[in-house]
Amino acid sequence: MRTAVLRGVRDVALEERPVPEPGPREVLIRVASVGVCGSDVHYYEHGRIGQYIVKQPLVLGHEASGEVVALGPGATRHSVGQRVSLEPGVPDFTCEQCRAGRYNLCPDVRFFATPPIDGAFCEYVVLHESFAHPVPESMSDDAAALLEPLSVGVWACRKGEVSPGDRVLVNGAGPIGLVAAQTALAFGATEVVATDVNPVRLRMASDLGCTDVIDVTATPLADAGYQPDVLLECSGHPGATAAAIRTVARAGRVVLVGMGGDEIGLPLSYVQDHELRLTGTFRYANTWPTAIALVHSGRVDLDRLVTSRHPLADAEAALTSGTRDPKSVKPIVRPGE
Ligand SMILES: NC(=O)c1ccc[n+]([C@@H]2O[C@H](COP(=O)([O-])OP(=O)(O)OC[C@H]3O[C@@H](n4cnc5c(N)ncnc54)[C@H](O)[C@@H]3O)[C@@H](O)[C@H]2O)c1
Ligand SMILES: [Zn+2]
Repeated sequence: MRTAVLRGVRDVALEERPVPEPGPREVLIRVASVGVCGSDVHYYEHGRIGQYIVKQPLVLGHEASGEVVALGPGATRHSVGQRVSLEPGVPDFTCEQCRAGRYNLCPDVRFFATPPIDGAFCEYVVLHESFAHPVPESMSDDAAALLEPLSVGVWACRKGEVSPGDRVLVNGAGPIGLVAAQTALAFGATEVVATDVNPVRLRMASDLGCTDVIDVTATPLADAGYQPDVLLECSGHPGATAAAIRTVARAGRVVLVGMGGDEIGLPLSYVQDHELRLTGTFRYANTWPTAIALVHSGRVDLDRLVTSRHPLADAEAALTSGTRDPKSVKPIVRPGE
């Protein structure tokens, strides 16, 4: 099969590799669509993310959809031909975190496109059958792939306990902020305000239902007059994170999704005085059923995020499109093309 392989910093090449064999309870999936994530771009540009270092050739891509084409021994959940969305992190199912239901925190999770585990920029992948989620016929391949970032948004809203009538501030309207904002609306938030420095993304946030958008290059957040119950921090920008925390209402919740700076200045006295609750998030757990329902019911639009499609041979163009084009939001690689 054709595989786009990251061989070094800014070096992606097509290679022929054998089609993988599905092991026990695994299915073989022909990959249809793969979203490009900021982490893919980061590995491409720097060869590492924190402690995760690309030491051997790596296949990128972890936001994927496709079709089941073969069943491994004991795999019974799917028929050949079933279209699926791939949940790309398979935990060990037995550790303390897994047994507590927090499988996103499994220290032995095998996650696509995180060294040394290969991802989905290729024609076929194998996956545990329970992590290949069937999708409705009406859902596009691209949307089925983007259930992965949507899961990050669903998890953020759950951690922030976004509830009917809540006022929510979504800091940063990148792909993650845009799905978090749509999810917050679907969860019943009645005020969902998005910030960014990119007018194209702010327009998209508006089009997707945000009640207001703030270009923080023109209006400092402190002057915008909002006092959210929940902050979904999706910019990863340390200064913007501190500024956003300073707007949160008393007893509010702060969900730190963005991962830009390793350390940030925390406005501690504000957090204390307002008794804010802060949490980090690490990916997601048990989010696919909710994500599928949100898209199928029309509450969340993922197709709108797609700004370009690339055949596998142009995977590198997909990886660079965000830096080349400020209008780019979510490039998609189509390995069948
Ligand atoms: N915690 C997790 O499990 C998890 C999962 C996926 C992504 N992430 C992180 O979430 C963040 C968002 O992901 P993304 O794919 O949308 O990335 P992105 O870089 O496309 O989006 C960040 C957005 O923040 C905007 N921004 C920059 N400066 C700003 C400022 N001062 N104020 C407001 N907005 C500003 C950018 O213009 C951009 O639109 C990233 O940091 C990513 O690493 C975390
Ligand atoms: Zn585990």
